[in-house]
Amino acid sequence: MFDPNRFITDRLRAIDASGIRRVFDLAAKLKNPINLSIGQPDFDVPQPVKDAAAAAIRKGLNSYTVTQGIAELHATIRGKLRDELPLWRSEDFGLLVTSGVSGGLLLALMTCVGPGDEVLIPDPCFVMYRHLITLAGAKAVHVDTYPDFQLTPERLAPLITPRTKMLMFNSPSNPTGVVSTLDRCRQIAAFCDQHNILLMSDEIYDEFCYEKVERPAGSGVKRCPSPADFSPNVLLLRGYSKTYGMTGWRLGYAAGPKALIEQMTKLQQYSFVCAPSMVQWAGLMAHEQDMTPYIDAYARKRDRVVQALRGTFELTTPGGAFYAFPKVPDRLGLTGAKFVEKAVERGLLIIPGNVFSARDTHFRISYACDEKMLDRGLELLLELAK
Ligand SMILES: Cc1ncc(COP(=O)(O)O)c(C=O)c1O
Repeated sequence: MFDPNRFITDRLRAIDASGIRRVFDLAAKLKNPINLSIGQPDFDVPQPVKDAAAAAIRKGLNSYTVTQGIAELHATIRGKLRDELPLWRSEDFGLLVTSGVSGGLLLALMTCVGPGDEVLIPDPCFVMYRHLITLAGAKAVHVDTYPDFQLTPERLAPLITPRTKMLMFNSPSNPTGVVSTLDRCRQIAAFCDQHNILLMSDEIYDEFCYEKVERPAGSGVKRCPSPADFSPNVLLLRGYSKTYGMTGWRLGYAAGPKALIEQMTKLQQYSFVCAPSMVQWAGLMAHEQDMTPYIDAYARKRDRVVQALRGTFELTTPGGAFYAFPKVPDRLGLTGAKFVEKAVERGLLIIPGNVFSARDTHFRISYACDEKMLDRGLELLLELAK
């Protein structure tokens, strides 16, 4: 008799997707929810980018591309990185166009860590990290960053062992929206250098930056600070999903030490093969778009969220991305998950903090939605906190 369980590896059994699935199940049951749970922008792909993808399809640019990505997109990305990161200008860094940042994360972890290795991840952090680390056979070590959600050398130092191989850094952060300062990025880069740890920087929200931020001298672009501002050895992962609303198009890139990128490219050759061809051509056009109006609109929504929730909820002001991570008020005596259950009963969809964290005290809201829905959601949150 056919028994599918015989064929499922321990590797896959070790991955538990139940937390996030429970949220999706809840969402499916709600008719017309106030949905503050969505992890993608509420704007569509800019028209010129859509046109570029359609034109590429019509021109017959539909075959496999070279694994590392088309030369035209490489030239654009290299130019951008050299413009932004003074230390990278004279570096012969590696570059690989990936199927989203998710593709880059998988390739990077499979390339750089394995059994016996430890990978430091912030707690809370993006759900995918710990599962991909498990898939790679390594061990995720959580760095508790409560209550301000800053990754600091002081918080990292006690967790370093001879097996520590990598730190996964994410600023602006999902789920907290917290942005690391230029000085903090400098400290983290120096710390990783000193301990011979590979610093992987997931910068998928890099353009969603709402504070005036300091940039290193000579940097040509205003955006969130990066540890790559201080080291050419950072493995940088960036994407198009959030900045251009291209989540379903699957485009991103990995840049950093050439020897690592070469190995990641080898693995891409035998797995993803290449990022979707027409999307790579459209990516070229994406680089020409000015997304400032969209980002400014999100900055205003961020202000709305902070203004509404401050005073009722403990909240670290998010400086970027489109998330906030408030704490359930202690006097309610509820876990994050219980609070979310109560919210869902009232038609409000938010995500419990324990999906991202070992703690169950907070919840994530996304303000990537229209203002009316956001206001209804905020009102309901205040009511639930009464
Ligand atoms: C921190 C973080 N990294 C990576 C990703 C994956 O993005 P992509 O669509 O580029 O695979 C997400 C998506 O939510 C994210 O929040």
